Amino acid sequence: MNTKYNIISQKRILANPKLLEQCEQLDFTYFPRPWKKGELAKFAATRKEDLFIRGISDDLDRVIGFIFGVNDPFLQQFHLYKIMIHPDYRGKSLSLSLMKHAYNELVRQGILNIYLEVEVDNDVAIRLYERVGLDKVHRVKSFYSDGKDAHIMTGVINHNLFD
Ligand SMILES: CC(C)(COP(=O)(O)OP(=O)(O)OC[C@H]1O[C@@H](n2cnc3c(N)ncnc32)[C@H](O)[C@@H]1OP(=O)(O)O)[C@@H](O)C(=O)NCCC(=O)NCCS
Repeated sequence: MNTKYNIISQKRILANPKLLEQCEQLDFTYFPRPWKKGELAKFAATRKEDLFIRGISDDLDRVIGFIFGVNDPFLQQFHLYKIMIHPDYRGKSLSLSLMKHAYNELVRQGILNIYLEVEVDNDVAIRLYERVGLDKVHRVKSFYSDGKDAHIMTGVINHNLFD
């Protein structure tokens, strides 16, 4: 059976608390460092201006992944907070589809650069980020509360990467 995946717009996510709840549930269940329950919804409600969130759904319209961060329009920068795909749907390049969609949208919004923090041993995520043109620029010692280091990765938002 061929599954059809669709990008879920920010407008739809913000208009439908169930979709945001599904993102939170994914985060809570599978993310290496989840936010507390309700935190994502609260963040989305208070940061409408600079929020950037998109989901990806399967053919039953369930959220199976999302990308989430904030824009700084003055610095023309996007800070990627989280990207995640449900474990049953990994290995299908859906995270690349989300990144591609995000890059196109961010360029349209005048955002030129992207940066993020990632655990130094999250090899899968680091490979994904390198594929979309990001480089490790700095290692921050004990960035996380359990003492783990983070890489800061940055790059230019180059939507031609996906041509
Ligand atoms: C990082 C992440 C978003 C990648 O999503 P994805 O859509 O599965 O990415 P890809 O399809 O490109 O697969 C990534 C790698 O996993 C491998 N893979 C294949 N099948 C897989 C499966 N069933 N389960 C897990 N990984 C699989 C792929 O071969 C690929 O390996 P490669 O990098 O050597 O080519 C996803 O692993 C995830 O949600 N991780 C937890 C959240 C996280 O750590 N996010 C990043 C920090 S913000």
